[in-house]
Parts: sequence; structure tokens; C-alpha cells
Amino acid sequence: MKQTTDFLKMKADSRKIVMVTAYDYPAARQAEQADADMILVGDSLGMVVLGYDSTIPVTMEDMLHHAKAVKRGAKNTFIVVDMPFMSYHLSIRDTLVNATRLIQETGAHAVKVEGGDEVVDHIKALVKGGIPVVAHLGLTPQLAAVLGGYKVQGKDAEAAKKLMKDAQECQKAGAFALVLECVPKQLAAEITGSLNIPTIGIGAGVQTDGQVLVYHDILTYGVERVPKFVKQYANINEGISNALADYAFEVRNGLFPEEKHSFNMKEEELAALYG
Ligand code: KIV
Ligand code: NA
Repeated sequence: MKQTTDFLKMKADSRKIVMVTAYDYPAARQAEQADADMILVGDSLGMVVLGYDSTIPVTMEDMLHHAKAVKRGAKNTFIVVDMPFMSYHLSIRDTLVNATRLIQETGAHAVKVEGGDEVVDHIKALVKGGIPVVAHLGLTPQLAAVLGGYKVQGKDAEAAKKLMKDAQECQKAGAFALVLECVPKQLAAEITGSLNIPTIGIGAGVQTDGQVLVYHDILTYGVERVPKFVKQYANINEGISNALADYAFEVRNGLFPEEKHSFNMKEEELAALYG
């Protein structure tokens, strides 16, 4: 299994980092089998698994529950868990208590927090306490309400400058990696070149040190529309819908179960049963 220092080395060696989200045991097993370098238990689970329309309702208990399942499915992969909405803002003490739970109770290896200079003191405290941190800048979904929705960030020079500064601050605070979400590819490339820690992009072009996508988006699983930056490598909605429709048809028409799915009682036992 990789460690935080391996990701720094991967950047130095220009080897791309593969990150994918997972929220449960089977997905975690598949991510590990696919040799993902890191699994993210993202708070995107609020949308793709729990059916909320944002990540705001996701709780510590939700993250703990899903991270435990992911750990059971991927015992040999580096696991990052999102700190959910407002779990790293109230005080440094609350941040440490919550992050400790996410690490100790689930067996995950690192936490991820959204935001730049507003959370650097929290990143510092976590790292000082021994919890590796992934920072997350650009489109930070927990802040969508104040950002004015889910939009590309850092498009003008001033916003880009702020993002570049925040990225430096996150590195200085001790984050070992930085997720860049929905930023212009030129800005992502500039930030990537300016940092020693690896950047992991989502909607940030090809020049980041790694990529992350949401499991359900890659597979077209449950989701209907996907953002522009997603590549859909499969459409399992179709396979699942067809299979469930076939099952319903066969039950209704007495075609399932067949002989091979049924258990048999010996003739003499039947005779004894009915005298
Ligand atoms: O929650 C999530 O899935 C994420 C990724 C999109 C980076 O934070
Ligand atoms: Na997230």
C-alpha cells in the first residue's frame, strides 16, 4: 500500500496518480482490483448514494458508516475520507475530534477538507497531530451556496491569483496533496508546476499530477446527467434496468425459478410425509 510520501515521489517521477471515489464494499473491492492509487470516500455520496441534491446534509455518521464499508473492501489501498459540511470549521478542537473519529473508527489513512486560507490553521493542526490531509480548492461543493452554484472557479486573473495563493498556503500548512476541481486547465497546470505536492484534478485538464472521478459518473450508475468534465467509461444503468425488467417478467410468467434453482425432496421422504 502506498503512503503519503509515495504520492510526492510519483509527482517527482511524473507518474500519474489514479484516484476514484467509492462508498461501499463492492465498489472499494473493484477500485482496489483496478489498482487505483487512492480511494476517496467523497461526501458526493450525499448525491450519488443517498439522493440529496447537495453535499450539505451529509453527516459525520454517514461518512463513518460508508468509510468503514470501503475499508472492508479495500484493505490494501490508501483511503481518503471527506470531512463533511461544517465538521472542520467550528473550532480546531472539533476539527481534531472529528478527523480522529474518521481515521480511528474506519481505518482510513487521510482526510480531505475544502477551502484555502479559511482552513489552513485546521490543516496545520491536523498534520501536527499526525493526520495526513488532502486539500481541495476550486469548486468546493460545500461552499456552493456562497460561490453562487456549481461553476468553474478561477477564470479571471484575480480569482486565479487567489487560488494560486491558497494552493501555496495549503502546501505550507502541510497538506500532502491538493484536489483541484473545475478550474481552467491553464491555471491547474500553473498551480501544479508551482507546488511540490501533487495536484489531483477533476475538471482541471490533463496537466495535473493525477485525476479523480466519481464512481457513479464513470459507470453511468444511477446518475442521469453528468458534468462536462466526466468521461463515462460504461453505462451500467442499461444493464441493471434490463436485468431487473427481465427478472420481473420471469417471475410474473412463472419462468423463474427454474428446476436448477430449486431444491428437491427424495421420493421416499415425500411418501413418508403424505403417508
Ligand atoms: O466528494 C467527492 O467525490 C469529491 C471529489 C469530486 C473530489 O470531493
Ligand atoms: Na467531496
